[in-house]
Amino acid sequence: MSLTRRNFLIRGSLSLVAGTLSSALAEPKTRNKVPVDFQDWESVRRQFDLAPDHIHLALFFLASHPRPVRQAIEQYRAKLDANPLLTVENAMFVQSDENIPLQVCRAIANYIGGDAQDIALTQNTTTGLALLYHGLPLREGDEILTTTQDHYVHHESIRLATERCGATWRKISLFDSYESISPDEMSDRIRKAIGPKTRAVGVTWVHSSSGLRLPIPRIAAALADVNRGRDEKNRVLLIVDGVHGIGVEDPKITALGCDAFAAGTHKWLFGPRGTGFVWAKPELWKRMRPVIPSFSSPDLFAAWEQEREPGSSARAAWFSPGGFQAFEHFWALPQAIRFHQDIGPARITARTHELNAQMKEGLAHMPNIQLYTPRDEKLSAGIVCFDVKGMKPEAVVERLLAQRIVASTTPYRVSYARLACNVVNTPQEIETALRAIRQLG
Ligand SMILES: Cc1ncc(COP(=O)(O)O)c(C=O)c1O
Repeated sequence: MSLTRRNFLIRGSLSLVAGTLSSALAEPKTRNKVPVDFQDWESVRRQFDLAPDHIHLALFFLASHPRPVRQAIEQYRAKLDANPLLTVENAMFVQSDENIPLQVCRAIANYIGGDAQDIALTQNTTTGLALLYHGLPLREGDEILTTTQDHYVHHESIRLATERCGATWRKISLFDSYESISPDEMSDRIRKAIGPKTRAVGVTWVHSSSGLRLPIPRIAAALADVNRGRDEKNRVLLIVDGVHGIGVEDPKITALGCDAFAAGTHKWLFGPRGTGFVWAKPELWKRMRPVIPSFSSPDLFAAWEQEREPGSSARAAWFSPGGFQAFEHFWALPQAIRFHQDIGPARITARTHELNAQMKEGLAHMPNIQLYTPRDEKLSAGIVCFDVKGMKPEAVVERLLAQRIVASTTPYRVSYARLACNVVNTPQEIETALRAIRQLG
């Protein structure tokens, strides 16, 4: 770890050597040699190195890096290989605008409409959820409420966190049948399930089990109702797993009304694999307890050196897990955000919805198909789940793969076949996939 006084002292002399290095780091030369036309979906698609002989309908699983992200990773990797110590010292521990984690937080803040100081950098959604639930100021007897429709890592984060402190947790279903999903009923069910000991509600913005998109602002309003009359420490917090909404829906997630939001940036956002973030309201960070030592907080290091308690209340940077990591991936994240911003988040939302609507419309008219994802745009996003009657979902995926169409199954107790169309896909690809599905069963 480099934040010793000695290192601060020698930084002056090192910085002469490293001056050119750090400015090169701050502005990686990632501009594409072949100009991209961000208005042209075919040009956007050409930025990816995807196997051209497959139709990729599972890119939400893990991102393929677009060209600017690949280039940024490659440039940072070359710098790290050339001089690991100077590169890391100047990127990580310099307390100025050249600090790269700070730049990464600023890029995320600019995208989500928040403050860089309220963002912790994580490796994925899983780490983010674990940090959040383990960091909550839970006491024995407190309860966390969640739903039966959330992901394994969400439930496990809650189970492990509550087990440690004698808190409890409970799951409710948001609906009885896929045919009768209603935003009012979902928020109502949550509101009615909240008890006097409930301290947090954990939900998922877009379910990877069905493609259902939750009305988060409506759920937040229901919680606000419950919280009227509760004091700060008994407030019910709204925690959102946002991984399948970010990069598809309006990125200004701080307007959703939740208290905390965790997401990987390596799915829909096409960010470097192994990157993610947590955003939370500053008043929540203050009440939380960090779990993993941070390398982003000189104040914590100074407190350790001086053998004293940190002395102030917690803030987001205390929650970014420290230790050396795949820095070239983390540092390249702003390039993924820039890529999205260059295309235009609203255009990405419209295109993703359009392609998935085409898929749902096609499936809904096939007699051999049971479609689970709501056709209503307001209740869906980029994931489409279905069954081919009389066939196991794994068999559906296998048969599609035999035709070079990459699909997936949902990793839940009841599993479905799943397709996800994103901006690299074309309407022609959707038609080809629909033709293949029509012939199954
Ligand atoms: C809803 C949901 N949450 C969390 C995760 C885990 O994401 P990560 O790999 O970023 O930890 C997944 C995985 O796809 C998911 O579908």
